[in-house]
Amino acid sequence: MSLKDKNIVIGICGSIAAYKIASLVRLLVKEKASVQVLMTPDAKEFITPLTLATLSKRPVLSDYIDRYTGTWNNHVELGLNADLLLVAPATANTLSKMAHGSCDNLLLATYLSARCPVMFAPAMDLDMWHHPSTQENVKRLLGFGNILIAPESGELASGLVGEGRLAEPEEILQQIQQFFYRPLPLKGKKALVSAGPTHEAIDPVRFIGNHSSGKMGYAIASALQSLGASVTLVSGPTQLPTPPNVNRHDVTSAQEMLAACTTYSDASDIIVMSAAVADYTPLKVASQKIKKKDGNLEIALKKTTDILTTLGKKKTASQTLVGFALETENELQNAQDKLKRKNLDYIVLNSMRDEGAGFAGDTNKVTVIDRKGQVQQFELKSKQQVADDIVAIIAAHQGL
Ligand code: CTP
Repeated sequence: MSLKDKNIVIGICGSIAAYKIASLVRLLVKEKASVQVLMTPDAKEFITPLTLATLSKRPVLSDYIDRYTGTWNNHVELGLNADLLLVAPATANTLSKMAHGSCDNLLLATYLSARCPVMFAPAMDLDMWHHPSTQENVKRLLGFGNILIAPESGELASGLVGEGRLAEPEEILQQIQQFFYRPLPLKGKKALVSAGPTHEAIDPVRFIGNHSSGKMGYAIASALQSLGASVTLVSGPTQLPTPPNVNRHDVTSAQEMLAACTTYSDASDIIVMSAAVADYTPLKVASQKIKKKDGNLEIALKKTTDILTTLGKKKTASQTLVGFALETENELQNAQDKLKRKNLDYIVLNSMRDEGAGFAGDTNKVTVIDRKGQVQQFELKSKQQVADDIVAIIAAHQGL
């Protein structure tokens, strides 16, 4: 599969496996890719820039500034022009720096500036690979939407045998080709996803909120994007990074979320309301901080506008509208009633009973109900896998 017109930046770190990248560069150039090699200062101890420059037919970059020519190597430009950034071999040190935003070399500055997809292929000793801190860093990078090319099991440079060996160049090439040639069934479709909680102000320093982390909605936005949809994510306050290539619109209150969602909804083919929107908001927001007094404090609340109902009322035949439900009793019946009342195509019922499912965790267990009352129950899975299941149903509904 040709990689013609693909600009691939390869960031090489200081690992004995760096020698394998010479073969990878050859394979990529043979497939007509344009390859720009970056090296960390340590990587040059393992393989010479001359070898890689000769194979890639371009000078290798390693420093911000070339002191002989006075050239400044623009990491922003490198990140912007690339179709793919591959960090391989990715050492435990560089993985940690990528996961935490360190920026002490050109490779890391390029990583932070890159708007293109990022793949990383780790290589290290088996104990380093299995260390909880490395595994946490990998999880964090996956959470940013970076793609892991998993290390293989086998004999390691240390003499130990186990997981940690850099994937073979042929395998890396195959994964790059699969990535560029993956089917994009939602290409040309626009999607609107809401996520996270809303905060309803009581006074300038207090609000009513809920425990929604936003993880489920962010995973859905990412899953829709990876199938080719152009995604707008209307997000309440969360601690999450924006999934790659997703347009994020931050809001705070239910009122602001309503305004943002109604702005984007008409042009959207797919709408997924996964936000935990407050059902009530203070009738009045105090202009000054409410002072402590004797006795109880009563705050009068008024109903917020139900965004999903508003969108359901103007839903068109070509739109797929998905809502969420969190029920504690008569779960299926209540969820089905909600689907009809709000004019949805699907309702995703969140389980409150199962361990590992719910607001803050990384896993979830859902049941999806359609307009005909058909029920699909899914196992406990990672939120990203749950998102993939939901998005597969949406793609099928869009007639793809
Ligand atoms: N929702 C919304 N706007 C609101 C409240 C909820 O769009 N003001 C959406 C949520 O994003 C979710 C769905 O409605 O997709 C379910 O919300 P939920 O609060 O569980 O249901 P309600 O209809 O409010 O009913 P109840 O509180 O009685 O369960």
